[in-house]
Amino acid sequence: MKILVLNGPNLNLLGSREPEIYGRTTMADIEAGLREQAAGAGVEIEFFQSNHEGALIDRLQEARGRVDAVVVNPGALGHYSIALRDALAALDCPVVEVHLSNIYRREEFRHQTVTAAVVSGQISGFGPLSYRLGLAAAIELVRSRHGGELL
Ligand code: DQA
Repeated sequence: MKILVLNGPNLNLLGSREPEIYGRTTMADIEAGLREQAAGAGVEIEFFQSNHEGALIDRLQEARGRVDAVVVNPGALGHYSIALRDALAALDCPVVEVHLSNIYRREEFRHQTVTAAVVSGQISGFGPLSYRLGLAAAIELVRSRHGGELL
């Protein structure tokens, strides 16, 4: 099983960016934790972060038919990028949308994501744990597709 973890704009700054909202954990820390989690589950994992909408879309297109699931933090693009939404909708595999912060208790413009309607489900508000929960959900969704039971 292969899972792609995709991160959108500004998530490369985690650790120093608005730490009162996003905490002090860096993306490298999060990736290290996910690598461990994936190895423990016997899952292959790959990471991609970009500040560019087109680069994210290219990567999703390249992943079509090649990965078994995607965990995506679209960052701000989730709130308005129809192009990213369409690229996610074009995937034929489980997709879990994650957000570090609880987008529903922040500014009103963050309360909606255009991506939510095309993903399997969304996890929001647990800090770095959102990614771990997202990866666990993605793994279970893939397993259930292959005849396993959802936990
Ligand atoms: C975010 C929430 C978005 O509203 C924001 O633009 C981000 C990060 C999160 O992980 O909480 O860049 O996706």
